[in-house]
Amino acid sequence: MLVYYGIFFFFVLVVIFLGYQMIVYYFVRVPYLGTPKERFALIFDYIFKQEKIKKSAKLVDLGCGYGRVLFEAEHRGMKNLTGFELSPLYLWWGKLLSCFYQSRVRLERKNFMQEDLSVYDVIYIFLTSNALPALSVKLKKEAKKGALIIILGQKLPNFSVTKDVVANVKKNIHLYFYKIS
Ligand SMILES: C[S@@+](CC[C@H](N)C(=O)[O-])C[C@H]1O[C@@H](n2cnc3c(N)ncnc32)[C@H](O)[C@@H]1O
Repeated sequence: MLVYYGIFFFFVLVVIFLGYQMIVYYFVRVPYLGTPKERFALIFDYIFKQEKIKKSAKLVDLGCGYGRVLFEAEHRGMKNLTGFELSPLYLWWGKLLSCFYQSRVRLERKNFMQEDLSVYDVIYIFLTSNALPALSVKLKKEAKKGALIIILGQKLPNFSVTKDVVANVKKNIHLYFYKIS
């Protein structure tokens, strides 16, 4: 009997979680999908080895989920890390992990479209294509000279790619790097 209750409880949790995802998607229009761990080496090798970006540089993740890219950046020595996220569940999970890791990453429940992006040296983006046209216009106005924009999966409209790295040959997944001049 206990097993049936367990299965029922599990399904209720799954339904609640899926319902939550649908509600967030209705408002945000971008589903949550974490940057795969396999991409981290490519991203941070480029940041540190190619661009020689200092560990004190300001990095922001636009739509940071629970902050996995930021925690990885901190693990690799970066100190000035901010993430904006609209989904409360991912943010709370991120804050919990932050306490657990004794992290100094800043996770903020804010719409990145309403934030000043001119203060960041590195801007990381992993979003669906529908979010990019408006963000591209904002970055054209705000991204500072010398800033590095990194985007996983698709090109940033109206920007010229500085470096195109194939992250997964089979799935044709690219990481695009843009240095603002
Ligand atoms: C594909 S996930 C990427 C998560 C994380 N950056 C990573 O790479 O692991 C995109 C996230 O962006 C968030 N998001 C979408 N639009 C946003 C906005 N305008 N402001 C803040 N967060 C947003 C979504 O809630 C979602 O969690």
